Amino acid sequence: MALTGEFGTFAPMKAIVIDTESPNRALHWRDVADPIAGDGQVLVDVHATAVNRADLLQRAGHYPPPAGESEILGLEMAGVVMATGAQVRDWHVGDRVCGLLGGGGYAERVAVDARQLLPVPEGWSFERAAAVPEVFLTAWLNLFLEGQLRSGETVLIHAGASGVGTAAVQMARDANCEVLVTASTEGKRERCRQLGANFACDYRDTDFAAEIREFLGGDGVDVVLDVAGASHLARNLELLAPQGRLVLLALLGGAQGAIDLGLVLRKRLRLIGSTLRSRSAAEKGGIIGGFRAQFWDALLAGHIEPVIDRVLPIQEAAAAHDVIAGNGTIGKVVLSVRQA
Ligand SMILES: NC(=O)c1ccc[n+]([C@@H]2O[C@H](COP(=O)([O-])OP(=O)(O)OC[C@H]3O[C@@H](n4cnc5c(N)ncnc54)[C@H](OP(=O)(O)O)[C@@H]3O)[C@@H](O)[C@H]2O)c1
Repeated sequence: MALTGEFGTFAPMKAIVIDTESPNRALHWRDVADPIAGDGQVLVDVHATAVNRADLLQRAGHYPPPAGESEILGLEMAGVVMATGAQVRDWHVGDRVCGLLGGGGYAERVAVDARQLLPVPEGWSFERAAAVPEVFLTAWLNLFLEGQLRSGETVLIHAGASGVGTAAVQMARDANCEVLVTASTEGKRERCRQLGANFACDYRDTDFAAEIREFLGGDGVDVVLDVAGASHLARNLELLAPQGRLVLLALLGGAQGAIDLGLVLRKRLRLIGSTLRSRSAAEKGGIIGGFRAQFWDALLAGHIEPVIDRVLPIQEAAAAHDVIAGNGTIGKVVLSVRQA
């Protein structure tokens, strides 16, 4: 049966559907209803998407999509514009785009607010482009907008070999900052050094704060980009220089921690929590504009680039989730929706 959308008749689309009755919440590639692009939206023929940890949480039932967003997994994609809704002026049918989604990326088609899109650079594959939006926009937002990182400052990036970490290391290096990272294995630390980190250390078996203090000759860091939360909190605050900023993106090491408010007061620190998905399309558009103004030329020139651990077919989304959950990846895990 063909489904009739606002812009014509397409074959029914397939998407990854969560079997909420199965013990491990199995993922199946099945027929689902087509999305319809409303005012200000475009309909995209998805060629590739990418995995985010939020997808694993959503699959487990712990991270529902924001109101009005697709229930289908997937926070980013790259593909070709199939149709445009009213009031869309910047994008046209046939444009190669990538962008941020509130949900819906693990599918053959998605409707997305036009403000959340970026062009796919000339000569890039859709797989490469799908690895850009979440990590580069998260890293840019939190280093430069929330964290107010400036040229010449020092930044500590936890999980430096993660998707967000690999994007953050490259942009901070490109912005002439001193870049320090933590990562759990020597292979990950070496990759971070290749990407431009000045110093990389373990955080599991060593005290990262002591190692970094020694490397910096006793100085502190201006910005910490953290995904661990409670497990790193005391050492992050201790490491920050006067007027330092701690930007918290995730709570992989726990949500409850004690804060020495004396340190916060004396050093005039700022503790900033930040999420990207819950922001409005207008805010996401502003973040995309800021990233493009500062880093688009660097991306086109190859000075910064997405780091891709592997590409798997969308039908293997569950295996891709297992890979992410195993913490062994460096950079992004991409899902190919239209295999060449
Ligand atoms: N707030 C936002 O807007 C936003 C946006 C995007 C992503 N995020 C979050 O930011 C985090 C990083 O995202 P990503 O896509 O870059 O993830 P990723 O590529 O899957 O990498 C995450 C890495 O975190 C490290 N890690 C795992 N458990 C840890 C723990 N308990 N303590 C410290 N480090 C731990 C591991 O690296 P090691 O082997 O080095 O430990 C792991 O490979 C995720 O939690 C994600 O949900 C938040």
